Amino acid sequence: CPEDFKRMELEPLPLMTLDFLQILSEVCEQCYLKGSLYERNNKLFQKCVFFLTGAKLVLFGSSKNGFGFKQSDLDICMTLEGQDTAEGLDSMAVIESLAKALRKHHSLRNILPITTAKVPIVKFYHTKTGLEGDISLYNTLALHNTQLLASYAAIDARVKILCYVMKVFAKVCDIGDASRGSLSSYAYTLMVLYFLQQRSPPVIPVLQEMYVGEKKPVVLVDGWDVHFFSDLKNLHKYWPGYKKNKESVGQLWFGLLQFYTETFDFKETVVCIRRIEPLTTFKKQWTSKHLAIEDPFDLSHNLGAGLSRRMASFIMKAFINARRVFGAPVRDFPPEYPNKMEYF
Ligand code: GTP
Ligand code: MG
Repeated sequence: CPEDFKRMELEPLPLMTLDFLQILSEVCEQCYLKGSLYERNNKLFQKCVFFLTGAKLVLFGSSKNGFGFKQSDLDICMTLEGQDTAEGLDSMAVIESLAKALRKHHSLRNILPITTAKVPIVKFYHTKTGLEGDISLYNTLALHNTQLLASYAAIDARVKILCYVMKVFAKVCDIGDASRGSLSSYAYTLMVLYFLQQRSPPVIPVLQEMYVGEKKPVVLVDGWDVHFFSDLKNLHKYWPGYKKNKESVGQLWFGLLQFYTETFDFKETVVCIRRIEPLTTFKKQWTSKHLAIEDPFDLSHNLGAGLSRRMASFIMKAFINARRVFGAPVRDFPPEYPNKMEYF
């Protein structure tokens, strides 16, 4: 359990040299350049989007937020023409009939409706592109959090690289699959953003706390406030921390591993990117959870709620190992990435 690890002696690390930090930065940058998806090719999406009368399909998630892999799934939100909200809609029935319609499409396979999840979805595999995807209904908040994440990605190039490296790390260590009891990519992205906000000086601001004018605007979607500062062209005017942090990607990556193993108190504190003030697990009444990650808009949603004690411990061990491995200076750039990395 993470709190037990806090009491454990962490291995002392050798001194970091500037050369080594430079190598570490290059490893992070190469990892990003090799596998990231700068912008999901729209044609690819078009190929996957089958014709559904009366339905509007919008792409969200990593295909849109700037943190995508070539193999990332397609996250698609479906709404129905003439119906603004899901109110009064029999979501289960729509999902079942959507699955039926998709089964008629010859290039789609493995169509699986999942109606027991918080947000019901239909999963599919598109044979022509080799992409997996899921369609959810009226997943409006996800469209907004995709925009929020995309804004953070646009502020500083290091954000994209670090979020990407974190996702690779989670996949390689087998701690990045929420359907198998660990955490989703989205949860790890929130952890990186939180670290970058808490860094001194911070790398990114807290966009949800920023506003122009006297009063903070409130924009309600599904009962939650989704307002955030999005005028990024003028960010330098409103954020005193603009471009103050000059650390390299290597320093930040290693700093992140130290932060989550040495500094951050999982028992007491919530990973929360909507405010700079620390938020306690006590205040949220999430003290029984091993790891608390608050969704930036749906404040009742703890992305760590599904973690078992065993899985939380497994995740912490992965971070502790990474701190040890990335903290052990090497003289040269690694000649080859391990095969597993090639996948990304
Ligand atoms: P990869 O598919 O691994 O590249 O990452 P991703 O960023 O697309 O993350 P993921 O597929 O896990 O989630 C897709 C999107 O769904 C996220 O970007 C969020 O917008 C949304 N999402 C995922 N999990 C949650 C959740 O637990 N709560 C909410 N509100 N949204 C979620
Ligand atoms: Mg995705």
